[in-house]
Amino acid sequence: MSATATIPDLLLDWYDRHARELPWRAPPGAPAPDPYRVWLSEVMLQQTTVAAVKPYFARFTERWPTVDALADAPEEEVMAAWAGLGYYSRARNLVKAARAVVELGAFPDTEEGLRELPGLGAYTAAAVAAIAFGRRAVVVDANVERVVARLFAIDEPLPGARKAIRENADQVTPDSRAGDFAQAMMDLGATICTARDPKCLLCPLSPQCAGRAQGDPVRLPVKAPKKAKPVRQGCAYWIERGGAVWLVTRPGNGMLGGMRALPDDGWHARADGSGRPPVAGEWEHAGTVRHGFTHFTIELAVHRSRGDAAPDGDGEWWPLDRLGEAGLPTLFRKAAERALAE
Ligand code: ADE
Repeated sequence: MSATATIPDLLLDWYDRHARELPWRAPPGAPAPDPYRVWLSEVMLQQTTVAAVKPYFARFTERWPTVDALADAPEEEVMAAWAGLGYYSRARNLVKAARAVVELGAFPDTEEGLRELPGLGAYTAAAVAAIAFGRRAVVVDANVERVVARLFAIDEPLPGARKAIRENADQVTPDSRAGDFAQAMMDLGATICTARDPKCLLCPLSPQCAGRAQGDPVRLPVKAPKKAKPVRQGCAYWIERGGAVWLVTRPGNGMLGGMRALPDDGWHARADGSGRPPVAGEWEHAGTVRHGFTHFTIELAVHRSRGDAAPDGDGEWWPLDRLGEAGLPTLFRKAAERALAE
């Protein structure tokens, strides 16, 4: 690289040698990968690590290898296959978007067109436009945010800094190899320009990095102080009869909407578990599980029915020996493990 090499030149040269091999990727410079795989991976990767996504991506693409196959899948099956990945509205929107793509005949190949698909936000539209269609797009995820905040020593705290970060990212985004550039920024953030331990000596951009020149890149990006997460309490009910447990499907759009779950009290009940249980009779307390969501932590007391009355309302008896296939989200998987541990 010459002394006057630009940021994109330096970064793409580094990417050509160090790109991570990931199942949804084409190697640097190769023809773009299948838009379906790019889109699916980008939706899965929102708020979720590469390591967590890999097994889900493998299972999804084996079971639904094309967007047509996913569009034909019953929503409940997709929701169950998503169980454990979190942010379940992503799975509901995935099915809706797959059906919209089939209606259209193909994935839209521009950022604007992609934005029209259900649930496709600014980030995903930009990432898919760049990676699958080679369009110039400014792709900013949390890794890229960190790289750019350091590169340009942007001092303003997040989230206010997002505008400046975006403008600076726009300035350095090249017209060609947009997908490689976006993924190079992500890889640099994930492997070199890490949050706590940046490896500046290995960084292709360190000669250009204002954050490094100032001496303390780790302080960037500056974050507004975090508010303490509230803790909510609730009760889940374990009703077991003859080798099966009573499961419900949670209503459409709320928390964990559309997912199978244990019946619960809506999580507003008092900590003493005095919400109305779904069957009459005696209950025993099997323990409490804790689970962190983005905006609150839940402490869920697990109550086990000791009687034999039939539960109220809609639900299904699920065989205990197939509980792993029910697609319980992590909170309820923990609650089930607690009930079964006794
Ligand atoms: N995070 C989000 N999208 C990614 C991608 N395409 N490669 C690596 N990490 C990512």
